[in-house]
Amino acid sequence: MNVSDSERVATDLASQGYQITSDAASADIVLINTCSVREKAEQKLFTQVGRIRQRFGDEPVIGVMGCVAQLEGDTLFKSAPSIDFVIGTKAVGRVDEAISNVIKQRTGILPNARDAARHADPMFESHRSSKFAKYIDVGEREIDYDWSVAEEQRSSKFVAFVPIIEGCNKFCTYCIVPFSRGRERSLPAAEIVRQVLTLMREGVREVHLIGQNVNSYRPTTEAGLEGFKGSTPFSRLLRAVAATGIERIKFTTSFPRDFKPDIVEAIEENDNLCNWVHLPVQSGSDRVLKAMRRLHTIDSYKKRIDRIKSSSKDIALTTDIIVGFPGETEADFRKTVELVEYSGYDSAYIFKYSPRPGTPAFEMGDTVSEEEKTSRFIELERVQRDVQRRRLQRYLGRTVSVLAERESSKSTDDISGHSTCHKVVNFRGSRDMIGSIRNVRITEVKSNSLYGEVC
Ligand code: 5AD
Ligand code: SF4
Repeated sequence: MNVSDSERVATDLASQGYQITSDAASADIVLINTCSVREKAEQKLFTQVGRIRQRFGDEPVIGVMGCVAQLEGDTLFKSAPSIDFVIGTKAVGRVDEAISNVIKQRTGILPNARDAARHADPMFESHRSSKFAKYIDVGEREIDYDWSVAEEQRSSKFVAFVPIIEGCNKFCTYCIVPFSRGRERSLPAAEIVRQVLTLMREGVREVHLIGQNVNSYRPTTEAGLEGFKGSTPFSRLLRAVAATGIERIKFTTSFPRDFKPDIVEAIEENDNLCNWVHLPVQSGSDRVLKAMRRLHTIDSYKKRIDRIKSSSKDIALTTDIIVGFPGETEADFRKTVELVEYSGYDSAYIFKYSPRPGTPAFEMGDTVSEEEKTSRFIELERVQRDVQRRRLQRYLGRTVSVLAERESSKSTDDISGHSTCHKVVNFRGSRDMIGSIRNVRITEVKSNSLYGEVC
């Protein structure tokens, strides 16, 4: 979602005449997008700001966006006074206004709001306490906010993110997202379909429908869903997007409780709905799941993955797991290990629990020691690596369809891309293949990727 936010901000700014550069050294304005899901997010931000000031001096304007901006608000000006502006997660459509204001403050045309209030003096320049501006916008999203991304600002020419739902109403007890991104709001299906059609015209071959939990998709209007069957608005949306004819559709992330069999049916019915589901389980212990308020049990989760695994489409399954949640015992952890062995995940993102101030779990204390968290993390990674090796072995000799995305970072003779089941696949090839979809026969299995040759 952060990558997608950055793409939209870049689109907006470029349309106003700004030039976008990824090279901080040549930038007049540096925008830092922040994530606060885990770890010392604020600290990372302050280090970044310090580094920019040290290398490039006072000149560049520094703006902060993303979850840290939303959660910390104007306290950021106290902790890092050289930040010029703060843009909340729903204010990303107004970065240009922030920049204009900051430039006016910095050149003295507009008084720095705080200093002006303090001194009430039109000759404000002589009273300025700081050479940096202070501008904050953590307001709501505009009703007519434009969710589209210009071709030049997409991280990939051939793969595009399409947000379908923002925010989260689930309030899992460890998670900061409902606070940083607010309540769930679904985009109208007609708008999503329109975006996908535009992307297709621009040469995009794969779209990722994204949201904190995509299967909670619940738009306020039927527009765009008419005529598409399904037991939930999300499975109807999948069918509506599939009907655009775009070659590949992936979606992430799914919330296990609301993951209905109809989603698997939609995947089975449509060739362009890819055979990959990301279904974060978080823990293998019912007791911990309850404390996490995940609203699923291991039994109900297993039923869902059994349906996924029994699909004729050979659907890849990935997950997220947290180790060391407050109160997690050795016995709870063993259940997570068992679940990982049972589920046979194609890959798993494993995290050490990180207390987030403001969440209910924060109040439970951080009861599992850092050493214990690390040891559980290492063990689970090892178990998952074995499971993964076994899962990947079955691709040996098989042919998979790969979207050629870029030259491989390891060898210029190789091209790298993703299969429909979202595996990284490298194969011998040339640059002119980039953007095409190729059948690749797998000849070698690596620890996190596959290697093959074009058939
Ligand atoms: N500590 C550790 N991991 C977390 N996640 C979310 N919040 C926390 C936290 N406080 C993980 C979950 C989620 C993924 C995006 O990040 O596993 O699915
Ligand atoms: Fe966080 Fe839970 Fe919402 Fe996912 S579903 S974003 S883990 S609160």
